[in-house]
Amino acid sequence: MGFALILGLALLSGGRFTVLAKPAQKMAFGKTADGQDVELYTLTNKNGMHVAITNFGASVVRIQVADRQGQVEDVVLGYDALDGYVRDQAYFGAVIGRYGNRIAAGKFMLDGSTYTLARNNGENSLHGGIKGFNKAVWKAREMAAQDGPSVELTYLSKDGEEGYPGNLSVKVVYTLTERNELKIDYSATTDKKTVLNLTNHSYFNLNPGGRDILQHVLVIYADKYTPVDSGLIPTGELPSVAGTPFDFRKPTAIGARIEQDDEQLKLGHGYDHNFVLHKKGKAVELAARVVEPATGRVLEVLTSEPGVQFYTGNFLDGSARGKGGKEYQRRSAFCLETQHFPDSPNHLKFPTTELKPGEKYHSTTIYKFSTE
Ligand code: BGC
Repeated sequence: MGFALILGLALLSGGRFTVLAKPAQKMAFGKTADGQDVELYTLTNKNGMHVAITNFGASVVRIQVADRQGQVEDVVLGYDALDGYVRDQAYFGAVIGRYGNRIAAGKFMLDGSTYTLARNNGENSLHGGIKGFNKAVWKAREMAAQDGPSVELTYLSKDGEEGYPGNLSVKVVYTLTERNELKIDYSATTDKKTVLNLTNHSYFNLNPGGRDILQHVLVIYADKYTPVDSGLIPTGELPSVAGTPFDFRKPTAIGARIEQDDEQLKLGHGYDHNFVLHKKGKAVELAARVVEPATGRVLEVLTSEPGVQFYTGNFLDGSARGKGGKEYQRRSAFCLETQHFPDSPNHLKFPTTELKPGEKYHSTTIYKFSTE
């Protein structure tokens, strides 16, 4: 397998036998209760950055990247072993599907039919339902991508799964480039009209030795956001962020306004809101930029999606034992989940999340690391 991959890479480079990327390293990660083997793939680039991916939930397990002194640390939350991912309730690192974030009352209409989804968040359906894509064992294979080591994961979500219509074939390709980018390409097709909103739920802390993420300095390239009701369902309005704690158009510490007396912050228990990116169309553009002042680590998020969910880990409570037995406390990490807006199937004015037979869903997100 390793040799075939190296040969493939050499051929891709036009027959000049230069190896463009080290193939992913594959190792056993455990077995599920129903006997399925789960693997861990480690991608390494020439800068010494490592990304580990498991085919359980197509989850990102580790992102190890240097700070400004060259010290390599793991900047995402997660678990040491499969067992943690099987029991996880926080969606650490996972691919979320079929629908990232909430669908109100677990119901939506498509062509005159009402679909009722699995409800797992009060009366709402969150992140795909009771058994979302984050709990599926995906098929995985290493790929000969030209821009770096890569893993392709595929999953067939059957017609009716968690209440969603259509057999949906999903593919997620993770590539670690030589520019320290973790690139995620999502694609899907269906045999029946359905709705779809895929994202990755990595929780970042660019200074993992620090206490929380309140000192991280954030820019979100968004003029508007989608306020929510008490069930965290968008009200449908798209107000300007100007003059609110949701204005991250200029670099601002995450903690600067998080405790302000603001109705939306209260409803979210902090930030847990979708921002309407001011990019136009499907080009892959900058959505957010985060700088951690102590380590100098910088994370840039680029996406083809129209929105990003900024979530400050408000519901983390130390109950899940993570890597090295660490208790992940409230606000010890943040998520920037690129996406279509929550509850879009019930908001016809939001960009559509419908996918029809014969169409191809395609979406790209890049998490790019550097230092300053
Ligand atoms: C949601 C939060 C939720 C978290 C973990 C985020 O995408 O917006 O409300 O608690 O995921 O499930």
